[in-house]
Amino acid sequence: MDLLTANSDRITRNYLDSLLIETRYIDSTLADSHMELFGERFDTPIMTAALSHLGNTAPDGMKIYADGAAKAGALHWVGMGSYEELEEIVSTGARTVKIVKPLENNDEIIKELKHAEDAGCIAVGMDIDHAFDGKGGYDNVFGIPMKAKTAKELKNFVESVNIPFIVKGVMSPSDAAKCVEIGAAGIQVSHHHGMIDYSVPPLMALPGILQAVDGRIPVFVDCGFESGMDVYKALALGAKAVSIGRHLMPLLKDGSDAVADRIKDMDAELRGIMCRTGISDLSSMDPSVIHKTLY
Ligand SMILES: Cc1cc2nc3c(=O)[nH]c(=O)nc-3n(C[C@H](O)[C@H](O)[C@H](O)COP(=O)(O)O)c2cc1C
Repeated sequence: MDLLTANSDRITRNYLDSLLIETRYIDSTLADSHMELFGERFDTPIMTAALSHLGNTAPDGMKIYADGAAKAGALHWVGMGSYEELEEIVSTGARTVKIVKPLENNDEIIKELKHAEDAGCIAVGMDIDHAFDGKGGYDNVFGIPMKAKTAKELKNFVESVNIPFIVKGVMSPSDAAKCVEIGAAGIQVSHHHGMIDYSVPPLMALPGILQAVDGRIPVFVDCGFESGMDVYKALALGAKAVSIGRHLMPLLKDGSDAVADRIKDMDAELRGIMCRTGISDLSSMDPSVIHKTLY
């Protein structure tokens, strides 16, 4: 196997770059990119991604990342981490989605979900794609055993909290349909920065997933988004909002203002292309502006 060819991040970047945009100037106005989600208002549909262990990137990295999202008026996502760390993140004022790992121990999962609810998170969820290790077994993350979840187990998690539950790592219409059935409040289309080689790029998977979901729950995406233009393509194709992780990580050492400024710059670029394509707000997005290169 050619490792470079197989790399899902590279395939995803190439797919994003293969999507082209037509302009629509006549009757266009300036654009508004604010987002309504779960009864709250955000300044942008650009969200942070569910990262973890950012202390390895910058001292206090997890808090800086959250503070950056809060300062940009963006919805913040967070991955694996301690109860204390989550409490610190929420204390920045960032409206936070906590993504819990598919731990083997379901009681621990429910404890984590309830803690996130009590801590004031706007939503919770699970990265279902972290169940296997790719070598024929279940995954083990920093010594903690994982296990794949059944639809019944996921439904139980959904019902264990009174805040929205989002399933992260959905890449197929069949998983998407199951998410709707179990009462999930949203889906994140994500290959988890290349959990498998040769993954379908999220924006290639998106149309089939949207068809399966049929407007019943919002569909978010992540993986490889680096600009307002990238975000625009996802929104035009029907995503509700886009998470950005690794692109923001190098800014953590410069502090939360640098993170916030980059999110705001990308949002400005997004609005810039919205008005050039006749899109005045997020509810007017139109997939027919997107063309796919033939090569
Ligand atoms: C350092 C790091 C830590 C991550 N930790 C988690 C995690 O704990 N939970 C999770 O669901 N995803 C985790 N992710 C995956 C991200 O949420 C995201 O799906 C992935 O990085 C793709 O987005 P990006 O290309 O914008 O980084 C992590 C990614 C990175 C780079």
